[in-house]
Amino acid sequence: MATSKIVFITLFFSLASIIANSKANFNDEFTITWGDGRGKVLNSGDDLTLSLDKASGSGFQSKNEYLFGKIDMQLKLVPGNSAGTVTAYYLSSMGNTHDEIDFEFLGNVSGQPYTLHTNVFAQGKGNREKQFHLWFDPTKDFHTYSILWNPQRIVFSVDGIPIREHKNMESKGIPFPKNQPMRIYSSLWNADDWATQGGRVKTDWAQAPFTSSYRNFKADACIWTSGSSSCGSGSKPASGSNWLTQELDSASLGRMRWAEKNYMVYNYCADLQRFPQGLPTECSATD
Ligand SMILES: *[C@@H]1O[C@H](CO)[C@@H](O)[C@H](O)[C@H]1NC(C)=O
Repeated sequence: MATSKIVFITLFFSLASIIANSKANFNDEFTITWGDGRGKVLNSGDDLTLSLDKASGSGFQSKNEYLFGKIDMQLKLVPGNSAGTVTAYYLSSMGNTHDEIDFEFLGNVSGQPYTLHTNVFAQGKGNREKQFHLWFDPTKDFHTYSILWNPQRIVFSVDGIPIREHKNMESKGIPFPKNQPMRIYSSLWNADDWATQGGRVKTDWAQAPFTSSYRNFKADACIWTSGSSSCGSGSKPASGSNWLTQELDSASLGRMRWAEKNYMVYNYCADLQRFPQGLPTECSATD
């Protein structure tokens, strides 16, 4: 009895610590899908790098499909003169009527800020761009980029600071991503026809190969398998964090206002020239 209790307790705590430290292994969770060796899983699955040279970029995708989740990834972006390069990190269901939640990091010439581009697609329709500069140099260290996706809202965060919230407004007739499972994708590619200062600055191939790095992937998510989803980290609901119903408390809203006020450089909801017939309906209700 006593022995089995101790065995149970030991087992419980070792399981708990596995779950608590559940940074996932890149070999288990992802597949390098293109780039002919330019994407690499390193250090027994702890690290992943993508690279880009004149011949090709590279990319990876998750083995799992997810329907809702709280997904963290640490990225360190292409350093130096990264103008023309784009590191995309996103969730997508793919196809014509796809849902998608995007982070895209647009490189810049040395000393000039990256642009963090965000977008949300529902049933094939996007056009919901918000762009930010960052309050740190994203090429010096790893920083955590998170997507909280639950039935009520999508929240984009950087190092735990929410920068954007996209609410479910189906009650106003606006589609919200909630029926199509999505995979995680990332790619590093050349977009010097548009990315940096509207395409005026071209990629300097003398700097190639360009590399962006990934580590500490963590997903508390509902994993979609053969037509149904199971939620939690692994098969167990993550204790304490009820991300499936999570909303922004007033402290988080305050931090989001701070990011919007100081670091947002483009907001589709403020672009009257682009929407001369009136801003999209969700803009009026985004408080
Ligand atoms: C690059 O730097 C310029 C000048 O600071 C800035 O206006 C621009 O938003 C930055 N990002 C991109 C992707 O061009």
